[in-house]
Amino acid sequence: MKKIALITSGGDSPGMNACIRAVVKTCLHYKITPFGIFDGFQGMIDGRGFEMSYLDVDNIIQRGGTILGTARCKEFMQVEGRLKAIAYLKSENIDGLVVIGGDGSFTGAYHLGQEMNIPIIGLPGTIDNDIYGTDHTIGYDTALNTVMEAVDKIRDTAASHHRIFFIEVMGRDAGFIALNSAISSGAENVLIPEKHMDIEKLVRDIKIHNKGRRGSIIMVAEGDEWGGAIELMEKVKPFLPDYDLRYSVLGHIQRGGSPSAWDRIIATKMGSYAVELLMNGDTNLMVGIQGDNLVTCSIEQGIKENASPNLNSIKLLAKLRTK
Ligand code: F6P
Repeated sequence: MKKIALITSGGDSPGMNACIRAVVKTCLHYKITPFGIFDGFQGMIDGRGFEMSYLDVDNIIQRGGTILGTARCKEFMQVEGRLKAIAYLKSENIDGLVVIGGDGSFTGAYHLGQEMNIPIIGLPGTIDNDIYGTDHTIGYDTALNTVMEAVDKIRDTAASHHRIFFIEVMGRDAGFIALNSAISSGAENVLIPEKHMDIEKLVRDIKIHNKGRRGSIIMVAEGDEWGGAIELMEKVKPFLPDYDLRYSVLGHIQRGGSPSAWDRIIATKMGSYAVELLMNGDTNLMVGIQGDNLVTCSIEQGIKENASPNLNSIKLLAKLRTK
């Protein structure tokens, strides 16, 4: 293993820089040349990479986003695009590749792994936490904290005005952020893609827990069955004529910001481990963290199996609504 390429791909997540730093520094430790490629698979197709030095990763552990840039690359979904990328990796004499990204990026990595013989390791970087084989993805903890802080602020105004707020958070296909931010911010209810919610039941719950209360918070994953917070609010409005309803869509603030301690820790451990796995001759593996242990599964398993939040947490929220 003489030269290892790395990319960040898909939606950025806080901690990606800490991960890049760990990959680069571990490579340098083992006298391997780290080769960063800009803008994920798109940069691989375009041939935009460079040899990295320790100076490139100096002072980045605390920065959000990714210094390498990222992209969602349509061209890479076609074999022609991937062949261009493979030709570039070969022309640069790359011996191993680290892909930091979410499920879309892992799908790209999986296909690449079938079509070339350069070993690949995937590292889960997404705020959504929707990757099988790991308790936490890089960026999820920071996003949860960002949401919690935003909801704390919204709760102040919700309580002052006795309003019911529907707060939409990211999670196209997964309810991890919505569910756990509901618990951490003391929300009264949550809607996630993994669990059906009856509108009549939601209305009933709102009426019950608002008797004599000072406003409430309903967390809504963007991918919930009703189409997000705005649509949901419009749906329940006719049933709640005496209530003051508002929505708030938190959007991309959830993806930015300085990574939490936990995200820096897992990003650093996973990044360093990826280099050692490549040195060990491993390929087509995804690294995860379970408890405090680094684990691996195949990239294929990572994309084919579903990661689902613990639905018992919905029952927990119901218990906490009891007066
Ligand atoms: O994949 C992470 C994610 O943050 C999703 O939760 C969200 O649906 C999506 O990215 C938004 O992507 P974009 O920034 O491309 O609009």
